[in-house]
Amino acid sequence: MVSICACYQQYSPLCAITAGKVGSLLYDISMGKISYKLVANDRELKGAFQVRRQVFTEEQGISENQVFDDHDREALHIVVKDGERVIGTARVLFLTANQAKLERMAILKPFRRKGIGRRIVFFLDGELRNKHVQQVVLHAQSRVVAFYKSCGFQELGLPFWEAGIKHIKMQKQL
Ligand SMILES: CC(C)(COP(=O)(O)OP(=O)(O)OC[C@H]1O[C@@H](n2cnc3c(N)ncnc32)[C@H](O)[C@@H]1OP(=O)(O)O)[C@@H](O)C(=O)NCCC(=O)NCCS
Repeated sequence: MVSICACYQQYSPLCAITAGKVGSLLYDISMGKISYKLVANDRELKGAFQVRRQVFTEEQGISENQVFDDHDREALHIVVKDGERVIGTARVLFLTANQAKLERMAILKPFRRKGIGRRIVFFLDGELRNKHVQQVVLHAQSRVVAFYKSCGFQELGLPFWEAGIKHIKMQKQL
């Protein structure tokens, strides 16, 4: 088992990789100022990992060694912040020069169903277009397929099991 702290210490150098470009979109919603940005420092990365752990490990019961892996070193990490508090996250892996995979999308429970998840996807669409990515793929948990459809993804192929949860592959052209 890898603890969050160990994981954070292990992966903290990756901030140097992800800090290159920091996009930021601001939306004023009922909770206050919500910002969407690429991880720019160790504090934000730690916040992202805490959200990921809370949602996938504590809420969904997925083991930490499935939630955190070596891909965190090369991934692009995104955070959503309510003021200084990280309340959502996702990561992107670059599979080829023009194809990326969206993973580990998580919003803290009290902040769901307010349009934040969809804004993460649209924020990322812009970032990835700037990097000449043409196609985004993901493995969607079956119960959130409607969410990804609302973000422009389409189902592909048959359902399969991953981390003990039913998933289906989805893709979107940018
Ligand atoms: C999935 C998740 C990221 C969605 O984020 P969110 O901020 O709640 O989603 P949004 O508010 O942006 O929703 C956008 C649209 O998707 C729909 N939607 C959101 N969650 C949904 C769900 N669980 N089931 C069905 N539809 C859903 C919304 O109704 C909304 O459509 P509308 O605008 O027409 O009403 C969030 O629920 C979450 O973190 N879940 C736990 C972690 C998880 O399962 N991650 C996905 C792993 S594949």
